[in-house]
Amino acid sequence: MVFKVVTGSDHAGFKMKQEIIDYLKKRNIEVIDAGTYSEESVDYPDIAQKVAKKVLDLNCLGILVCGTGVGMSITANKFKGIRCALCYNEYATEYARKHNNANIIALGARTMNIIEAKKMLDVFIKTPFEGGRHERRLNKIKELGG
Ligand code: RB5
Repeated sequence: MVFKVVTGSDHAGFKMKQEIIDYLKKRNIEVIDAGTYSEESVDYPDIAQKVAKKVLDLNCLGILVCGTGVGMSITANKFKGIRCALCYNEYATEYARKHNNANIIALGARTMNIIEAKKMLDVFIKTPFEGGRHERRLNKIKELGG
């Protein structure tokens, strides 16, 4: 079970992020929110990099929300040690943890509803990495510079 997560969104993901923060706090998960803090327009790379750096510093999980999740995931994956998965259902989320050891999940506020997002977050937070043969595969990603 995870007890600490870093969250971040741009303006498009702001409302969903706030709902996610409330949801996690009610479940006694410590949330470190890297912004944004309103619906005023911001550039998603500025937020994604803050979250990626914090996740690496604290060795915890992160949650990024933008319109589609695409821009956030592209940016976060520029950081060595970040494995950001743009997830679209519970199955993809489960295997992003089990097989890919994803440390950030990217969600699209314009492509899914909050009910789906919460179900995916439950899976993301409770599912451990399986290791074994998957570790070997992740090492191959590391060799590529990831
Ligand atoms: C903002 O309009 C939108 O481009 C952003 O939230 C995101 O979807 C980018 O990938």
